[in-house]
Parts: sequence; structure tokens; C-alpha cells
Amino acid sequence: MSTELIRPARTLQGSLVLPGDKSISHRYAMLAGLAEGTSRIANFSTGADPYSSLACMQALGAKIEKKEKHIEVTGVGGSFSQPSEPLDCGNSGSTMRMLSGLIAAHPHTFTLIGDHSLTQRPMERIRKPLAAMGANITLTDGHAPITIHGGRLQAIDFETPIPSAQVKTAVLFAGLQADGTTSLSEAILTRDHSEHALRAFGATLIRENSRLSIAGGQKLHAVDATVPGDLSSAAFFLCAALLFPDSNLILDAVGLNPTRSALLDVVAALGAKIRLLNVEERHGELVGTLQVNANPSAAPTKPFEISGALTAQLIDELPVLSAIAPYTRSGLIIRDAQELRVKESDRIALVATNLRAMGAELTEHPDGLDIPGGQTLHGAQIDSGTDHRIAMAFSVAGLRASSETEIDGAEAAAISFPEFFRYLRELCPS
Ligand code: S3P
Repeated sequence: MSTELIRPARTLQGSLVLPGDKSISHRYAMLAGLAEGTSRIANFSTGADPYSSLACMQALGAKIEKKEKHIEVTGVGGSFSQPSEPLDCGNSGSTMRMLSGLIAAHPHTFTLIGDHSLTQRPMERIRKPLAAMGANITLTDGHAPITIHGGRLQAIDFETPIPSAQVKTAVLFAGLQADGTTSLSEAILTRDHSEHALRAFGATLIRENSRLSIAGGQKLHAVDATVPGDLSSAAFFLCAALLFPDSNLILDAVGLNPTRSALLDVVAALGAKIRLLNVEERHGELVGTLQVNANPSAAPTKPFEISGALTAQLIDELPVLSAIAPYTRSGLIIRDAQELRVKESDRIALVATNLRAMGAELTEHPDGLDIPGGQTLHGAQIDSGTDHRIAMAFSVAGLRASSETEIDGAEAAAISFPEFFRYLRELCPS
């Protein structure tokens, strides 16, 4: 386990081009693996998680070649082969859940395994709809290891019981290969990268209000694509920009998909000026350049509340928003975030423990936190819980603490953002 020392910083200044979005990289890896032909994917995520998806594609018969500036994936043309070993999803819930939907229609036996954290995460949420489609899928006490005896699937009409883009994707990927037309509706809209990615690879998807339909038996074709920079990685620097009155941050080629970009509104509402310098569309995904400066006079005078649909849209950014909340003028109220308890760690409990270690006052609820603003924190020894977003969130909190902070288990950052500590040192001098 490695420890990273975070010294109080003076400012945040500079520009970044972020590695490719983790969510989009998973989807491009999987769909390229299934498609016919060779896809070229530039700015693929550098995180360990999307590499778990690539390794699984290789185990299923796709050919992966790492070139200097892109990754080439030669797909199996619609037919995965029987892997000789269990499919190792590492720490990645996205790999395990979405892959289950992608492979369930293939006539082989698959075992999906993961690390200690992944083996504790709930998998019934994908077993249920896939079983309703006719998949023979067995969990171990609701968790991984998962065994799938693949075979023909039938379309279903599915309403997602929890807001989860991974569950939605598992059903869409299975529906793509089922008999009939699968439809799916979401009470709360989650990130729509799978919809854009499926279309980019040549599939037809129909959306009518909140209902999506996908006909089975569609073939996918290889693409040349560039993955937009990861906005969830950018979030650590966007939140750090709130901490210094003279901060100036430029983020180039960052993903601005509207189902992910609520973060920008929240950071602006907490006291930042965000300018969009240009925007373009690539394979359905918006990409642009952002300039971010602190704007303390815009900070709210009442606690800012994140609940309902906004919670679902910010699910990956809640750890860092919570970690900087004590420094904001009026603090943060987070509700409807019970899903945070079943991420790579129990993120509500770990945020509360680590903030208290830094001297913060807060109240923990089953589905959220109340974190008053206007607090002064001191440095502390932080437990990342081997959770990448906790390691990075508390590194940002450490920038404004009155003394040094030690992040134990800092290596977890590499799950999504291996360059994080280097960029933090470059942008935030002590
Ligand atoms: C993701 C969906 C979210 C998110 C995860 C990535 C995706 O998970 O937390 O980091 O790429 O679809 P859930 O589907 O469990 O909400």
C-alpha cells in the first residue's frame, strides 16, 4: 500500500488534457470487441478499470493492439469464443455488469470474477433482468463469482428499479442480441453513453420520451473514435478550483455529455465562474474546452442541496463535493445517495470518517450527509479504503488543510486516473 503526502497549496493554475472517459472507454472496448472489423480508439482511458474490459474482450477472442496514440480492437464479428479461464473484472463494476449482458446470448459457459471490493458489490440487479430474458445466470450469495451458461435470449420490457447506467447497459447489450425488440424505461435518466456508443457502432435505438427500444439481431461495425476527456476525473480539479480565490484552470477536450455535466452547474452554484470556450460533437458525445475561475461572491448563503435526480447524475462526484464542502460558504446537504454505500467502498461512511479525522463537523444519514460550510480543517491520516475516488477526493481536501495530509492507499487512484497525483502537484504548488 502506498502513501501520498499532500501539502497545503497556495493556488491552482494551469491547463490539462484529461485521459479518456472511463465510462465511454468501457463501452467502446466492449462494442469494438463484439463488432466486425478493426476499431481504432484514441485517447482510451488510462485507468486500470477499462483495461479490465479490454482484457476480457481479449479472453473472448477479440484482438487488442496498443499503438502509440490509439488502441486497435479487432472484434469477433458477433461470436465470442469460449474463454479458457474466468473473466477477471478486477475492481470494475462496469466491466462485470455490462459484460454479463454482452455475453449472455453466446453459447458458452462464462465465469466472472473480481477483486475483494467487487466481490462484495450487488449483482442481483443484473441477474434479474437477464434471467427474465432467459439467461441461465447464477450468483454467489447475490455477488460474484457469476456463472453464465449462455444461450438464446428473448426480448423483455424492463423498467429499471434503481437508477443505474450499468444495469441499463446490461439490458441494452443483451437486447441487441435477443429475439424480438427489448424496451426499457428509466424513472431517473442515467448517463446515456451506451445509447450513443451503440449508434456509433451502427445499431438502431429508438427513444420515445423515457422509453428506449432496441431490436435484436443487429450487427455492429468497427469505428474510428476518440474518447472525450473524463469529466469525473476533471471533477477533482474543478472542485480544487473552488478552494483558491485566484484559481485559473483550463480543461481541453473534456466530455460534456448533458447526462454527466450537472457537475458544472453545481460547481458554478458553489462559487465558480465556468466558461465554455468551444463545443463539438463526436459520435454523439459533446466535447469542449472549459475555463474555470473561483467566484466566491457567487457562493450561496444557504446550504446547497443535492437530492433526487441530481444525486443520480452526480453519483461519482459526490465524494469530492463532500470533501470540499466544509470549505464552502454554506455547506452541502446530500440525500437519496444510498447507492454510494455499495460503490467501491461505502462512500458515505468513509467520507464521514475521513472528514471527521480532519476535524470537520457533519451528520451522517442512511442516504446522505449534512456538511456545514465555513469550517477550517487540519491535515490527517486518510484511509482511502482502496477506493480511487476517496483517495483523490481527500487529496483535494488536503490542499486547503492547515497541515499536511497523508493519503493511505493512494495507489487506488490508478483505477480511474493514474496521472492524478502528478497533475495535482503540477497545478497546485505548495
Ligand atoms: C457507470 C455508472 C455508475 C457509476 C460508475 C460508472 C457507467 O454506476 O457510478 O462509476 O459507466 O455506467 P451505477 O450504474 O452502479 O450507478
